[in-house]
Amino acid sequence: MAIGVLVSGSGSNLQAIIDGCADGTIPGQVTIVISNKDGVLALERARKAGIATAVVENSRAGGREAFEKNLAEVLERFGVQLICLAGFMRILSPWFVRRFAGRILNIHPALLPAFPGLEVQKRAVAAGVRFSGATVHFVDDGVDTGPIVIQAVVPVVPGDDAKSLAARILVQEHRIYPQAVRWYAQGRLRLVDGKVVLEGGDGVVNAMLDEGKKAWIYPPVS
Ligand code: GRF
Repeated sequence: MAIGVLVSGSGSNLQAIIDGCADGTIPGQVTIVISNKDGVLALERARKAGIATAVVENSRAGGREAFEKNLAEVLERFGVQLICLAGFMRILSPWFVRRFAGRILNIHPALLPAFPGLEVQKRAVAAGVRFSGATVHFVDDGVDTGPIVIQAVVPVVPGDDAKSLAARILVQEHRIYPQAVRWYAQGRLRLVDGKVVLEGGDGVVNAMLDEGKKAWIYPPVS
């Protein structure tokens, strides 16, 4: 399974996916990492792992259409079967989403459908929610609205600010994103008529209490 990862920043989720491929838990390989910004740490991580990189910048002349055509062209050149958005700060158009229908995953640092969009952890703290978490979902035409694959729940504790909550959530992101990618690469996870189908995972009754007892994860990691 050839995986393409789209990034804009530090790439810690990219790293979790690279590590999963390297240790065999993900039966796949990251064949290309594409950033819409040059000089970001994610590109450095890819290079260190010997993975091809590309920078596809916003095209001033051609607008979003040209940008996404370039993106699609690079992904197809590298034979990508699954696209993972990992801290990728661009919204993809319906054209792009349709072209790769059912083949794009995203990670979001909240329990969707609560807190879609930006400054998510700050908004969660401000709202006074007692729990937040992370969500991996298939990408559809909306912003953070696609069908949900897996979520991890963490508490929001007194004294938390956006930074401390983000750090607690990030630990869980690094568990659930490789898990979702693993299921997809194993051929167990797919989108059928807009609904998530997970063979041998859906229907499991108990959520999983994460090792360090720091989060609930459902469906359980397997
Ligand atoms: C993560 O919190 C992810 O959920 C969000 O952006 C952040 C990216 O972090 N979409 P990293 O680049 O993977 O370290």
